Amino acid sequence: MTVNKQKELASQDYRKIDRDHVWHPIFQHQNLEQVNLTVFEEAQGTTIIDTDGRQYLDAYSGLWNVNIGYGRQEIADAVYQQMQKLSYYPHSQINIPATLLAKQLADLLPGDLNHVYFSNSGSEANETAIKIARQYGRQMYPEQNRYKIISRYRGYHGFTYGAMSATGQSPRRAAFEPLVPGFNHVHPTCVDEIIRTIRWEGAETVVAIIAEPIIGGGGVILPPDDYFAKLREICDQHDLLLIIDEVI
Ligand SMILES: Cc1ncc(COP(=O)(O)O)c(C=O)c1O
Repeated sequence: MTVNKQKELASQDYRKIDRDHVWHPIFQHQNLEQVNLTVFEEAQGTTIIDTDGRQYLDAYSGLWNVNIGYGRQEIADAVYQQMQKLSYYPHSQINIPATLLAKQLADLLPGDLNHVYFSNSGSEANETAIKIARQYGRQMYPEQNRYKIISRYRGYHGFTYGAMSATGQSPRRAAFEPLVPGFNHVHPTCVDEIIRTIRWEGAETVVAIIAEPIIGGGGVILPPDDYFAKLREICDQHDLLLIIDEVI
């Protein structure tokens, strides 16, 4: 189908094609005939425009991820130029934009957070963090059995198996069980429960704590002011890794 041909289609046509061919996440597709999803076509800054020309303020920023706004010319130009120059090279060698971006991020991050592992989504980032933590446990304490990860009820960490196992929301997990073993869920804001869990499980079996700074998808739950300072102390005391999931 040519671009011009696409332009001739109306919202209803797109809805029909979409209903016939697109599998949407977290959707009951049986109801899609009654629910007219909006067909978005353009966006600039914080404004998104549908195929009928209606404009909306995108207060969600996509899925909380378009935090620099839509249609930024300098980014489109940079992507265009890099695609022409070197569109891809894997990290078995070095590609210059990734190297320079990692340096820029390291300069922004506090303390000794100096190394960046690039991934395509929040779920993959958490999946990787979980794997790094377990590998750390095996390599640093080969005589112990450190693999458990403490995560929190109401927390959301993604849709891949490891990240979903860390997630503490049963409606998002139930259909896919059994999940990855070795995740212990605790109250979302109670530090004492984390201390008790480590004591009862045995510190030599625990490798990391994962937490969102503010639980987002699980209901916007703010921790007490000293919560993360205490988590840092607990992690230092037992040499646990602290995985801060700041996807949103
Ligand atoms: C805190 C948090 N972690 C992880 C994820 C998963 O990110 P993604 O959907 O990019 O895989 C999300 C997504 O909303 C999130 O809010």
